[in-house]
Amino acid sequence: MGMGNRRVTVKVPASTANLGPGFDSLGMALSLYAWIEMSEAGSGETSFQLFGDGMDQLPKDKSNLLYKVAQMVFKEAGANVPELNIAMYSEIPLARGLGSSASAIIGALVAANALIGSPLSKDKLFQMATAMEGHPDNVAASLFGGIVVSAWDGEAAQVARIEPPEALRTLVAIPAFHLLTEKARHALPSEVSMADAVFNVGRSSLLVAALAGGELALIRHAMKDKLHQPYRAALIPGMAEILERAADFGALGVALSGAGPTLIAFVDAASSEKGELERFLQATLQKEGIASECQWLAPALSGAEVTAETVSPSSGDKSGAFGLSPALLERIKGEVNA
Ligand code: HSE
Repeated sequence: MGMGNRRVTVKVPASTANLGPGFDSLGMALSLYAWIEMSEAGSGETSFQLFGDGMDQLPKDKSNLLYKVAQMVFKEAGANVPELNIAMYSEIPLARGLGSSASAIIGALVAANALIGSPLSKDKLFQMATAMEGHPDNVAASLFGGIVVSAWDGEAAQVARIEPPEALRTLVAIPAFHLLTEKARHALPSEVSMADAVFNVGRSSLLVAALAGGELALIRHAMKDKLHQPYRAALIPGMAEILERAADFGALGVALSGAGPTLIAFVDAASSEKGELERFLQATLQKEGIASECQWLAPALSGAEVTAETVSPSSGDKSGAFGLSPALLERIKGEVNA
C-alpha cells in the first residue's frame, strides 16, 4: 500500500460506564489517556513496545489484542498489512473499571484505519468495537468523547453524544486490586423485577436530562441504581457505605465505575469539600483493608484523536505527537526505524 514510512499516533481517553443507573448504556470519557502508535513494518517482523500498568503481562506476538484488532480493520477494508510496529503507552489502570480494554480496542481500530487512509467510517469502527466488547458504553465514550448514551441489540449500536456540563469534575478512588468485568457480570441476576426496571428507567432518564441541561442538583436523585450495583457491592468492600454517604461529603452523586472496582464521584468544580470527599473515600476503603489511589479527572471532551506523520529513517525519529513521554520515544526510536 506504500505506507512504509507512515506512522500514526492515536490518543484515546479512558472512560467510566453506567454512571449508576445507565447499565450498558451511559458512558463518559475521562482525562486519563492511552497512546497507540502504529506503522507498517514492511519486510521486517511485527514488534511491540508496551508501557504502562500491567502491560508487561500482555503478549508481544500476533496474539496481542492490538495486533488482532488492527488485522480485523485491514480485513474489513480489503487491505494487506501483515507486519506492524506497535507501541502503546497507557496511564489507564488495567481491570479497574476505567475502560482500559475499550481504550485499547478503539486506539487500535482508529490507528489501523488511519494507517491505510481511513477507508472505514467512524460508525463502522464503533460497530466493530461494540461487538468486540459486548456493550457499547465504554467504546462509545473513548471514540466520541464527552457523555454518551448508547444502545445495542446485538447487531447494531446507536449513540447520541452530550456535551458534559462545564462545572462537572470527577473524583475516582481506584482500589489496589483488579476485578475482571467478566467476574463482575457473573454476579448479576439473569432477571430483575418490573419495579427495579422502572426504578432504573426513571433514574437513567433523569440523569441524561440533568446532564444535558446542566442541572447538577438533580444528579443526586438520578445517580441511583437497582440493576447492577447492589449485586456487585459484595465484590468491593466499602462500596455500599460510599454509595450511601458520599453525598454528605459534597459529592453530587456517586457510582461504581463500569464493572468496578473503581468508585467515581461526580463533583461540582466549585465545591469547597474536595479534600473531605477524598479523605472519606480513602478512609472507607482503608477501613476494609483496601488501599486505594484517588485521582481528580475531568470529562474528556474529545474522543480518540489521530495524527499521521511521515517517518524518515535517515533523519531519525524526532516526532512527539501528543507529547508522548521522552522515555517512550527513546525506546520506540530503535524499534520503529529498525
Ligand atoms: N457496562 C459494563 C458493565 C461496563 O457494567 O459490566 C464494563 O466496563
